[in-house]
Amino acid sequence: LSVTAPGTWNHSMVIGMMVEAAADTIDANPVLARVGAYFHDLGKLKKPLYFVENQAGAENRHDKLSPSMSSLIIRSHVKDGIELARKHRIPQVIVDMIPQHHGNSTIEYFYEKARKEAEEADGHAEVDKSLYTYPGPKPQSREAALLMLADGIEAAVRTISEPSPDRIQGLVQKMINKVFASGELDECELTLKDLHSIAKCFTRVLTGIYHQRIAYAEPAEKIFEKAGGKAAGNAPKEETSSADDPGASASKSAKTVSEDRQKEAGAKGGKEDLKRLGL
Ligand SMILES: [Fe+2]
Ligand SMILES: [Fe+2]
Repeated sequence: LSVTAPGTWNHSMVIGMMVEAAADTIDANPVLARVGAYFHDLGKLKKPLYFVENQAGAENRHDKLSPSMSSLIIRSHVKDGIELARKHRIPQVIVDMIPQHHGNSTIEYFYEKARKEAEEADGHAEVDKSLYTYPGPKPQSREAALLMLADGIEAAVRTISEPSPDRIQGLVQKMINKVFASGELDECELTLKDLHSIAKCFTRVLTGIYHQRIAYAEPAEKIFEKAGGKAAGNAPKEETSSADDPGASASKSAKTVSEDRQKEAGAKGGKEDLKRLGL
């Protein structure tokens, strides 16, 4: 994944941290949750460039496709993931989490696009919703439910241009409410108390990762050189740690990372991405 679908890999690592921490707070299985996160989008390996997190500013391949074809490709990552996981003899308990992380949810972005196109063509917005709906089942375990929640929330938080703790918290709560109201959590045993703990935990983890750092007055490389360091690549750990910032290359300064993120968010179009996520 890290080579073929780096955006998906990064997304999987981040939600791995989120679900592990949350599982710990609600007495679910943290290791199962984390490993489930690592494999949940394995199927994206087949067509990585059709998934927004791997496009990195390149053209959006869906621009040339009908909404139903886009939906078919997006939905197929579940089936492809199950096949790949079985081929590589991943334990069944992890394979089960692959279809459950989307449950019976609808790919709202392409469903709405199809409705709009149908209305423009013949005045009727009638579209077969089943073409835009994942096959399920809904999450059957608390770990799979955590994965479903973290999946949507992490993707949504990436679209915030200036992710302050308040904004992250607001989005986490909004997403959890949305998934709860959709009925996707009806077949698992999460309680309302669990959902409250999960929201707090996800907010803490995501704030630690995505909250903007204060920009340095001058590039970190220069500060380091003044302090007697040599190459920028040897800059101090606080400024370059990829563990602190899984979305960035380890050789980037904190300021560059921060700027990159803002550019990235701008390029992708935060509003468009939120629409894609059904918000
Ligand atoms: Fe997925
Ligand atoms: Fe995902």
